[in-house]
Amino acid sequence: MKKLIEWIDFPVISDERGNLIALEGMKNIPFEMKRVYYLFGMQPNIPRGFHAHKAIVQCAVCVKGSCDILIDNGTEKQIVTLDSPVKGLLIDVMQWHEMSNFSQDCVLMVLASKHYDESDYIRSYDVFMDIVKGESLE
Ligand code: TYD
Repeated sequence: MKKLIEWIDFPVISDERGNLIALEGMKNIPFEMKRVYYLFGMQPNIPRGFHAHKAIVQCAVCVKGSCDILIDNGTEKQIVTLDSPVKGLLIDVMQWHEMSNFSQDCVLMVLASKHYDESDYIRSYDVFMDIVKGESLE
């Protein structure tokens, strides 16, 4: 059984000028990245996400500030806090996720394994649960 919460610790290249992190597909990120997007200017009381992906794998990095993310695989769920630019949270396929509690300065960067494709989204929790239950019968 896959781990529900999987963090990736990034190596930091530091010197007197500051810190640098390089993210490379199939090296410190376990997939080839096709897309990077980032969220900023969120309201602390307006959560986002509320979907799962059929085939797109993602890695979320809070490069500034903090936010919470709920990860739910249909059997287990957990809320973790993203508050560090030196680690990423893997969001696997069929993991329902909800982001909330954004700090005012939060910048949430997400690396994705595929280009944007609305047909890859499952935006109904009931449909998500039906698919999870169906898979567990196979
Ligand atoms: P949405 O999936 O609702 O954001 P979140 O999961 O953070 O709540 O996306 C908001 C809008 O942006 C929606 O119209 C789809 C669009 N979008 C893109 O065009 N490309 C992308 O890579 C992403 C992630 C979203």
